[in-house]
Amino acid sequence: MKEQKTYILAIESSCDDTSAAVLLNEKVLSNVVATQKIHEEYGGVVPELASRAHQQNIVPVVHMALDKANIGKKELSAIAFTSGPGLLGSLLVGTSFAKSLALGLQIPLIEVNHMQAHILAHFIDEDGFDKPSFPFLAMTISGGHTQIIRVDSYFDMTVIGETIDDAVGEAFDKSAKILGLPYPGGPLIDKNAREGNPRAFRFPKPKVDGLNFSFSGLKTSILYFVQKHTAEDPGFIGENLKDICASIQYTIVNILMDKLRKAVKETGIKQIAIGGGVSANSGIREALKAGEKKYGWKTFIPKFEYTTDNAAMIGITGYLKYREKDFSGHHVTAKARFKV
Ligand code: KG4
Ligand code: ZN
Repeated sequence: MKEQKTYILAIESSCDDTSAAVLLNEKVLSNVVATQKIHEEYGGVVPELASRAHQQNIVPVVHMALDKANIGKKELSAIAFTSGPGLLGSLLVGTSFAKSLALGLQIPLIEVNHMQAHILAHFIDEDGFDKPSFPFLAMTISGGHTQIIRVDSYFDMTVIGETIDDAVGEAFDKSAKILGLPYPGGPLIDKNAREGNPRAFRFPKPKVDGLNFSFSGLKTSILYFVQKHTAEDPGFIGENLKDICASIQYTIVNILMDKLRKAVKETGIKQIAIGGGVSANSGIREALKAGEKKYGWKTFIPKFEYTTDNAAMIGITGYLKYREKDFSGHHVTAKARFKV
């Protein structure tokens, strides 16, 4: 039987990236992301500025996605959009846009949970990338999220662990800020860490029950550590940057891996799928590879452009919902909190 051709236009605007993608079934035809630079000056995302930038970006980004996919609006089968979780003002821009366009084109509207989408990004058809089979564990690590999720089927997901304070990306970014590195500092910590000694300095690991995480204590201990040493030697950071970064990264990677090992032990599931911008981190990638050898894990990391915030992951989730005819009514609204 010939597979039906379904074209999904997907829109993502939950944080500081305005993104639109077009998918033909499980394949990505275009995935356009406009990253908002304005926040760099403030050392973090400013919600009000993010919504304004989404307003400016959304129309050109959608046009670009349709052009790149070489698709006309009339050929679209449905519109998928992120309804949450995220910054409310940002979500409202994508939500209103998607609702109006679906209404204008008289095609189905599909709301997508951003956290589910990070996980379902693994089901995009991409040469050279395997898809996990059910059940598997997903660990989403980014500037906004840190969760371990048990995935039993596309839409049967259970959060089994999450951060009780900062996300892991925030831990990287806030540590970098203390060291005087620009935002977002995660990639810079990684870069410096590669040439440093991970055991040069010791930072305490938090004691958190079960599979939950905590990163706010680490940030505080790094702050005190830096204050103490720079009081004695003002050049301390500059002289030891690589070792400090390597030691911070080593601590964060250990925190993540401890909980992941525990999750594998508790569930008996050895397939692990990673998502979120922090999955680019070299220390995490090495630790996962080591886990494959040492514990027989099978790990999945999607193509980088589908792991940071992007609309292609919203598109694949939209397509999987489209197959189930899981459509949304036009009363659907943006929600800052939205459980998987
Ligand atoms: O998924 P993402 O693009 O956006 C959200 O936060 O949702 O993730 C961005 C986060 C930032 O905190 C950034 O510093 C971090 O991912 N990040 C990294 C690396 N690349 C990006 N953190 C550590 N090492 C990296 N190589
Ligand atoms: Zn995200």
